[in-house]
Amino acid sequence: MLIFIDTAEIAVLRELAATGLVDGVTTNPSLIAKSGRNFLETIAEVCALIPGPVSAEVAATDAKTMIAEGEKLAKIAPNVVVKVPLTWDGLTATRALAEQAIPVNVTLCFSAVQALLAAKAGAAYISPFIGRLDDYGFDGMDLIHEIRAIYDAHDFDTAILAASIRTPAHVKAAALAGADCSTIPPAVFRELVKHPLTERGLETFISDWAKTGQSIL
Ligand code: E4P
Repeated sequence: MLIFIDTAEIAVLRELAATGLVDGVTTNPSLIAKSGRNFLETIAEVCALIPGPVSAEVAATDAKTMIAEGEKLAKIAPNVVVKVPLTWDGLTATRALAEQAIPVNVTLCFSAVQALLAAKAGAAYISPFIGRLDDYGFDGMDLIHEIRAIYDAHDFDTAILAASIRTPAHVKAAALAGADCSTIPPAVFRELVKHPLTERGLETFISDWAKTGQSIL
């Protein structure tokens, strides 16, 4: 499963990219607003920093303008993925952009039939929002299972990008459910490596090694 980071903060991305484990980035208008930075400049910087797919979301809600915005965003860098909302206009724009070989991430997916439509429109990625479904009393992970089953049964190659991830348990469940990628907020990514037994075991190894009086280098 590929790991994408869900942020528009360049300094954070630079820090996390140093792990060598960041495969891509997703942004959205809320994350851009939170960064307080210029959208187009930020996307250009992220694309230069992370060689993998970088999702940049259109702002328009009508297909014609979404297509024009998508074409402009795609010119920023070869690794831009244009993000469009899951509406009829968004699906029309997805088809038009896909026909130009511009990869599209269809976002704000909350049902399996929405995901089916996105795949039929030629989406490169579908973004089911796990955490927001959980917030409404559903089990968001059920949606990942349903989409996986539909895409596999009908040979769609749209990648499932588990989004709205809130916890390491979400990351584990998305991987088990067969998501192709998860987009993870920086704070959750930092948590992934942690386990109390790892920390306790390392403390023991460090203190026992000190008792040997040896050094490797
Ligand atoms: C995905 O592309 C979205 O940017 C993101 O995962 C939404 O997460 P949220 O529900 O925590 O805002």
